[in-house]
Amino acid sequence: MAKEYSFLKNFTFKNGVTIKNRVVIPPMTEVSSFEDGSISTDELKYLQMRAGGVGLFISPVANVSENGKGFEGELSITDDRFIPGLTKVASAMKLGGSKAVLQIFHAGRMSNSKILRGAQPVSASAVAAERPNAETPKELSNEEIEGIINDFGEATRRAIQAGFDGIELHGANTYLLQQFFSPHSNRRTDKWGGSLENRMRFPLAVIKSVHDAVEKFADRPFLVGYRISPEEIETPGIRMTDTLKFIDVLANQSIDYLHVSMGYAWRTSLNDKSDTEPLILKIKKQLNGRLPLICVGSVETPKEAAKVTDKGIEMVAIGREILREPKWVQKVENDDEGSIRYTISEQDLDDLGITQPMWNFLIFRLKSAMHISNQPDYNPEQFKNKLAPHEGA
Ligand SMILES: Cc1cc2nc3c(=O)[nH]c(=O)nc-3n(C[C@H](O)[C@H](O)[C@H](O)COP(=O)(O)O)c2cc1C
Repeated sequence: MAKEYSFLKNFTFKNGVTIKNRVVIPPMTEVSSFEDGSISTDELKYLQMRAGGVGLFISPVANVSENGKGFEGELSITDDRFIPGLTKVASAMKLGGSKAVLQIFHAGRMSNSKILRGAQPVSASAVAAERPNAETPKELSNEEIEGIINDFGEATRRAIQAGFDGIELHGANTYLLQQFFSPHSNRRTDKWGGSLENRMRFPLAVIKSVHDAVEKFADRPFLVGYRISPEEIETPGIRMTDTLKFIDVLANQSIDYLHVSMGYAWRTSLNDKSDTEPLILKIKKQLNGRLPLICVGSVETPKEAAKVTDKGIEMVAIGREILREPKWVQKVENDDEGSIRYTISEQDLDDLGITQPMWNFLIFRLKSAMHISNQPDYNPEQFKNKLAPHEGA
């Protein structure tokens, strides 16, 4: 009986916000905003189509600073002039009772001078990412770091004014928050780098800036989430021992949930192949109930989603599958699982509200990961113990 799935039960966060079920749409950029970062009507349609089923809907990422843009077609939250458009985004995502969280970030060295219209990308240190054609970023000055911390606070104020139910800090997938935490991208010797404690300083300062904005501007309970990538494969790079220490510190901050970015929910360590315990279970153990968790990665069927929440993990995020099946939750609730689509084809794009730029992105960047019906090379095993698309350098 559908109604008995553990992911269909509601969940109340410590700050009082209740979500009607434990299914989450994770942040997925549609690369369909206008060049200046304002929302397009095509994107609003895409969001509206997916709202209402899930308890929590996390938006595509928005950049908080001009030099923090990571890709073309990305949402911007760098200025008050974006508030009217973002208000439409929040309304679209809240249709039918989903709670709407805006993901915010600074891309740091994961950008390039074409996207930044001639400007050099910035990061903790002048170290290029280990990927083809990565540009060497400029090391941020102390003043510039303080400016970006302030930009995160300003973005939070704008998200509150636009009517969102919360923001998620994108501390994963090798963007700037992670770049400060990582010994690969952060080689600084001042207070922002060096020891593990110093490498946590920037993320913690950003959390404080966001918290201050919530205290000052929110007239309602407002969620603050934090997304991490648990490991890096570069040397030096983030290892699970660092992450577990970071999680201990995060558990004592003013945040409402932790979201772990992985391509496969039950992934084991990428670095220590002898360790067979799924990372998500290690993280859950470390949190020991101090923060609720969102788990993500290749979850497609109701049975796979239930496996996550049956383990006591509070929320399960379903990304690519909800691209293919916007009404996934409604179909499960209505005992109509047989009609859930698990493949996608170019003929479905209008039905699914997927724009041509998004389709191009899915085809060029994620082709083998999308279950495209006429592409036989899809291999669901491929993310089990590897970085997923979007997750690494
Ligand atoms: C088209 C697409 C865009 C994405 N954009 C973002 C993003 O803006 N922010 C982010 O944190 N993750 C992003 N991701 C990663 C997803 O949030 C998610 O972690 C990943 O797709 C694994 O979940 P899944 O197996 O359920 O798809 C994106 C993934 C896809 C497929």
